[in-house]
Amino acid sequence: MPNITIRPAAPEDTGLILTFIRALAEYEHMEDQVCATEELLADWIFAKNKAKVNLAFCDGVPAGFTLYCFNFSTFLGRAGIWLEDLFVLPEYRGQGIGLSLMRTLAREAVEGGFGRFEWSCLDWNTSSIEFYKRLGAVAMDEWTTYRLTGEALVKLAEGK
Ligand code: ACO
Repeated sequence: MPNITIRPAAPEDTGLILTFIRALAEYEHMEDQVCATEELLADWIFAKNKAKVNLAFCDGVPAGFTLYCFNFSTFLGRAGIWLEDLFVLPEYRGQGIGLSLMRTLAREAVEGGFGRFEWSCLDWNTSSIEFYKRLGAVAMDEWTTYRLTGEALVKLAEGK
């Protein structure tokens, strides 16, 4: 059995985090949308503390990661964990690493008294959907995610 370990990322892991982000984007056919740089990630994750990262190692070798932050449920009156990215390198899949990464966040949610642990997943990503369902997660089919970005965001901000 491989030795799987999980630890929080440190600033010196920023290059590795960007590698994982790009690999997940490639898997999702969205690599052309990745504008993140090591400088941006170091600033927002480690200087501004706006997101957290856990790294998974298989026999000491980097194998996967989660990047997450916190949201809030007014109904529950509590903060929640928002999972932005989960990724395990193809050669390390099926050995329990994804499960360990998710369990680490579930534990943080329970121990911290958080109300929810949630994320979004592309509709076509059926293999991950199966993985999530096996964890007991439920799809929020009646909700649609909205996003303001780029020109539309600036336009609203500037009152145009
Ligand atoms: N279909 C069905 N079951 C699966 C699948 C699958 N594709 N993958 C894993 N499982 C099962 C395993 O059999 C295992 O069950 P068992 O313990 O009963 O045998 C259980 O789920 C745990 O599997 P792990 O080995 O822990 O999962 P793995 O390390 O392979 O990681 C992950 C799963 C993260 C989904 C990985 O396949 C991956 O990186 N996929 C590509 C990237 C991706 O889709 N990421 C999620 C995008 S959504 C987001 O980021 C919020």
